[in-house]
Amino acid sequence: MDFQIYGFCTIFSFLILASSALQQNPPAQINSNSVLVALLDSHYTELSELVEKALLLQTLEGAVSKHNITIFAPKNEALERDLDPEFKQFLLEPRNLKSLQNLLLFHMIPTRIESNHWPVEMNNPAHHTSLCRDAFDEKIQLIKKNGEKLVGEARMFKADDVVRPDGIIHGIERLLIPKSVQQDFNTRRSLRSISAVLPEGAPEVDPRTHRLKKPAPPVPAGAPPVLPIFDSMAPGPSLAPAPAPGPGGHQHHFDGESQVKDFIQTLLHYGGYNEMADILVNLTSLASEMGRLISEGYVLTVLAPNDEAMAKLTTDQLSEPGAPEQIMYYHLIPEYQTEESMYNSVRRFGKVRYDTLRLPHKVVAEEADGSVKFGQGEASAYLFDPDIYTDGRISVQGIDGVLFPLQEIKPAPPKPTPVAKVVSNQRRGKLLEVACTLLGVCY
Ligand SMILES: *[C@@H]1O[C@H](CO)[C@@H](O)[C@H](O)[C@H]1NC(C)=O
Ligand SMILES: *[C@@H]1O[C@H](CO)[C@@H](O)[C@H](O)[C@H]1NC(C)=O
Repeated sequence: MDFQIYGFCTIFSFLILASSALQQNPPAQINSNSVLVALLDSHYTELSELVEKALLLQTLEGAVSKHNITIFAPKNEALERDLDPEFKQFLLEPRNLKSLQNLLLFHMIPTRIESNHWPVEMNNPAHHTSLCRDAFDEKIQLIKKNGEKLVGEARMFKADDVVRPDGIIHGIERLLIPKSVQQDFNTRRSLRSISAVLPEGAPEVDPRTHRLKKPAPPVPAGAPPVLPIFDSMAPGPSLAPAPAPGPGGHQHHFDGESQVKDFIQTLLHYGGYNEMADILVNLTSLASEMGRLISEGYVLTVLAPNDEAMAKLTTDQLSEPGAPEQIMYYHLIPEYQTEESMYNSVRRFGKVRYDTLRLPHKVVAEEADGSVKFGQGEASAYLFDPDIYTDGRISVQGIDGVLFPLQEIKPAPPKPTPVAKVVSNQRRGKLLEVACTLLGVCY
């Protein structure tokens, strides 16, 4: 039994982590002789790594406490060399955690099936429901064909590889992909491909309404906006709410709202940008305005100050009515810029002025220390975390300071009171609550 100790420790510490993170039922007893411990110690290292990354151990431990399980373990190559890199990247993005979990659970069934119980007749395959609840109507077919055991389309290359009292592992040659995961991936990919379409001809502007006749084509990084975004913006945040769209109003060609949700969620997962995400979640009018602009074909680059920078804001700077909105609008550039496109232009042109959604103020960028520096003097910030989010229409660049238009940079008050941090900690719980209802993201 001592050779199982390592695995036991791994799983044990993991269960503690998982349970404290999820605040669910306390972990039940896990036997060091369990098939889960064996999986973590097995040569299916790619699979077991993914199981850990997907935070699935607690779920699986619940499963083996109720019944035996059978794990169809894809060999390592199926998860590294043979896997489409784009699909793998998709699986590893934090926002696609659910898809990763579904994919893995689809390889496990809540019954013990030893190879000598394999269906023998070719015309009479067995069908089993997997542990993946999102694919409960998609059964796994077990069949024997030309003397070979098949799991779905995958050939079983090592039957009964690991046998334990609460379960069994069979090695299979390829991945089993449930339709729901395939769909998630396709949706994500088609969203991305929108931005890959080449622009065709100049956009037509309707002279009467001064709006685009057709949606603005996707623009390459660094290209100037097609039509001034200000034409399309709702009146300033402190003036009035956005007008309701009139008859024959805006046609929504892009799903801007879900792209905005996506990037806020990405910021939350990225870490270190909770304040910014907080404000975006809180100021629903700002987020929906951004979503609306994106839907209409505009593009945005968000300069997101990190938490340390936000914590330096003083009560004065935040307390004036509309102040958070004003600060945020100054950090939105109506162009699609990536780190590369900005760095290239500051290198080529020295100082570059970008419009911001806070009219008429511009933000200045220049090259400094091999990076891009925004703003002047006291209120300047470096591009700190490049390309946190880039989907072809929204780009998010992390910066290490909060920017203010030049004329607003006042000498620092003698005793600044950094409240943001304290307030933020109180707000944090609230934020998660709001994010939960607003974005459908629950933590
Ligand atoms: C798992 O299967 C073994 C062997 O068939 C059996 O002895 C054991 O009771 C089963 N465990 C559960 C939890 O059903
Ligand atoms: C977020 O909303 C709460 C409650 O509506 C408010 O007290 C708080 O000041 C808001 N935070 C920001 C940054 O606007």
